Amino acid sequence: MKTVIIRYTTMNRVNHWITAICFVLMVLSGLSMFHPMMFWLSGLFGGGQWTRAVHPWIGCVLLLSYLGLIVQFWRENLWHRDDTQWVKSIREVADNDEEDAPPVGRNNAGQKLVFWSMALLIPVLFLTGLVIWEVYFGEATSIPVQRAAALIHSIAAVLAIIVWIVHVYAAIWVRDSVRAMTQGYVTPGWAWRHHRKWLWELASGQHGKNIIRKRP
Ligand code: HEM
Repeated sequence: MKTVIIRYTTMNRVNHWITAICFVLMVLSGLSMFHPMMFWLSGLFGGGQWTRAVHPWIGCVLLLSYLGLIVQFWRENLWHRDDTQWVKSIREVADNDEEDAPPVGRNNAGQKLVFWSMALLIPVLFLTGLVIWEVYFGEATSIPVQRAAALIHSIAAVLAIIVWIVHVYAAIWVRDSVRAMTQGYVTPGWAWRHHRKWLWELASGQHGKNIIRKRP
């Protein structure tokens, strides 16, 4: 029997992976429409016309799914003074020397920045996407407005892809984080190393008792 800490519920994980799958599909279909060099990617969706038809609908699912993550995670991503300190010690963290950085709560400042950047970028992508969704809203706005929307849409997409690459890199780089999002649990050692303040809060019973379970 080993003691583990529940980090993500089944609901958290299903919601996260729906978001991740939608995001990857949006990137692939979006890039295929962004530049002729990447048009070959449209083959994954059944050709150019299917790609153009399906991209906005997946975007709607992505927005709803990310709203689900916002509802579940906004509170633990609120910014605190410690987070600014943590950002200032980013060099130590990057050198695997977390002992010199302030103890981290449930999420570190990097995770919070990813969370809030996506909370801004996904709605911007959605709203500008609606403006350029020709089949339903083509008549609703003028051509100059649609041009501006297409530009903002592309810039927001590039920024979201950069944020996503940082997110996936960090998830793989901090060993055993991926297991937290696939199987839901982390070890007390992992929490001690990466989220010590969270472990103290758990140990003092602030988050309910059943968060710590025995596992065969
Ligand atoms: C497709 C590849 C992705 C992988 C491999 C991945 C992996 C992970 C992992 C391992 C965690 C847990 C981190 C921890 O507990 O320390 C996590 C959390 C999270 N991920 Fe992802 N993710 C992916 C895509 C996305 C996308 C596309 C979004 C948003 C658009 C996203 C948003 C989040 C959020 C909101 C959390 C919860 C932690 C927080 O509040 O910041 N993920 N992800």
